[in-house]
Amino acid sequence: MCGIIGYLGYRDAYPIIINGLKKLEYRGYDSSGIALFYKDGYSLCKTKGRVNELEKKIYSNNIKISGTIGIGHTRWATHGVPNDLNAHPHVSNSNKLIMIHNGIIENYHAIKIVLLKNGFTFKSKTDTEVFINFIEYIKKENKSSLEEAVRISLNEIIGAYSIVVIDKSHPETIIIAKLGSPLALGINDKEFFIASDTIPFVNYTKNVIYLKDGEMAILRKGKELDLRKIINNHKLNPIIKKLKINLKQIEKGEYKYFMLKEIHEQPKTILDTLRGRLLIPKGIICIDGIESNKNIFINAKSITIVACGTSWHASLIGEYLLEELASIPVEVEYASEFRYRNPIINKKNIIIVISQSGETADTLAALKLAKKKGAFVFGICNVVGSSIARNVDAGAYTHAGPEIGVASTKSFTAQITILILLALKIGKYRSSINDNRYKCLCQELGLISEKVYHTLKKDDSIKKISKVYHNVNNFLYLGRGINFPVALEGALKLKEISYIHAEGYPAAEIKHGPIALIDENMPVVIIATKKGCYNKIIGNIQEIKARKGKIIAIVNEGDIQVSTLADHVIKIPNSSEELSPLITVIPLQLLAYQIAYIRGENVDQPRNLAKSVTVE
Ligand code: F6R
Repeated sequence: MCGIIGYLGYRDAYPIIINGLKKLEYRGYDSSGIALFYKDGYSLCKTKGRVNELEKKIYSNNIKISGTIGIGHTRWATHGVPNDLNAHPHVSNSNKLIMIHNGIIENYHAIKIVLLKNGFTFKSKTDTEVFINFIEYIKKENKSSLEEAVRISLNEIIGAYSIVVIDKSHPETIIIAKLGSPLALGINDKEFFIASDTIPFVNYTKNVIYLKDGEMAILRKGKELDLRKIINNHKLNPIIKKLKINLKQIEKGEYKYFMLKEIHEQPKTILDTLRGRLLIPKGIICIDGIESNKNIFINAKSITIVACGTSWHASLIGEYLLEELASIPVEVEYASEFRYRNPIINKKNIIIVISQSGETADTLAALKLAKKKGAFVFGICNVVGSSIARNVDAGAYTHAGPEIGVASTKSFTAQITILILLALKIGKYRSSINDNRYKCLCQELGLISEKVYHTLKKDDSIKKISKVYHNVNNFLYLGRGINFPVALEGALKLKEISYIHAEGYPAAEIKHGPIALIDENMPVVIIATKKGCYNKIIGNIQEIKARKGKIIAIVNEGDIQVSTLADHVIKIPNSSEELSPLITVIPLQLLAYQIAYIRGENVDQPRNLAKSVTVE
């Protein structure tokens, strides 16, 4: 939620900031702004709308774009509607201090009252404008330096933030700080890059420092980084990591949208997730985080999986897999609910948290709650070095590479791949899976990416189906067993990028209500693969046909029964039931993409959404 970027060095700051903002738009895109600092002044431009609107405004208003110091922000509104005034950067009352901010200040109202009493005025409705004026107030009251004023005010602030603060009369010093929202610092000799993630600066430097919660840094032009603990000002030694991203991973290439590129990357990303972990000839699965905690998994009485959105759907698939293959009772919880309950967990419990971004505020809070109660927390994250990845007791990265489309696709299949490995590995430890089944599933898993590749070739027939249904108002998605969460995921994909109302249900459940919705205008996508409850699903299809519903069926190659009943069929390769979600979800992702594309929607940046939900 919100992308922030800054540069301090010797290069032209404008292209770094503006191009960086475009790469951060997945974090929010309802307004944007930029401030550039040059020898005898500074320029500021902000606007409602996306970064290309900002660019247009900069050119049409002849805004000066020189200077080697700059900051930029792309917003996902929390406090105050998206408009020019609420856009960042925000400037203090004295017109001296400037701030960009990602996060939420929970006690901003109380602080605003104090500031109002002290004569401060506000142009925007944002918590950020309160924040920067609070720093100004503290600076004046305590007669302190800017860095000290920032530090003191951060100790008073309740909430989450990653911030960049500049005094426009001394722009060669920038102060950054972090609590709860991500902040990466790229460094080279004589230059600093600040951003919400590393993507905006990966082509300038591979040296990165991920600020930890409760840390602030003072960046001075041409000088060494000064890293401090916010609470007591203690000096810290920065830990520099080497980035491994390559540029191709963050470019669209031949694809119109990142989402389509990421859908088509899945044969490769699944292999990347398996690489070094599945050694087929020996039938060995290596996952460090499990091996080094073997006894915890062997003795586990139950597992709770906690996540949000698409990651929550992957968790439901994990529930099926772990119960089926590892014989452990599993519960799946929405992180946003779990964190506000009093979950009955202690040090005998295993909590698995799943998050693509590793920054989802609710999942992070759930993780912290679980740790506080003494549970062992295992994380499945995609973004290396993310807050969740850093806070778990052990974990496994999905290695799907940067996911830029706001709607998750490749991270979903990567999460399922890890969950299959996990269930097999724990099943083997607990002797709950026989050798033959274990071996067969390992072998099949080694070949699954071929089957995913084959399924992607169905895109043309899915385009035809999309042309028939792109104008409907509602869709139903049905599945059973392990494919019920896939139905949920298909419905989520469609609604988030095409704005068509869609619901996922266990197929047998429609009799208990949703069947009332079915008529000749209702398309029903139904996962009817040969394994699982095939015959029961045929019964469900008959019920829908009897009410004139339109059936789009996902069936296995060679299927006859469902194919003769359905209005449209998408044929996919056969697989065992445990691995089937890796294949069945592909046509659903493509269907959502094609429908949104035909409707002319901005597939990568759907309205009201942001890639990484770092606010509650
Ligand atoms: C849907 C989607 C979201 C995320 C959810 C959790 O396409 O992307 O529902 O899955 O916000 O995000 P992570 O996995 O980053 O915790």
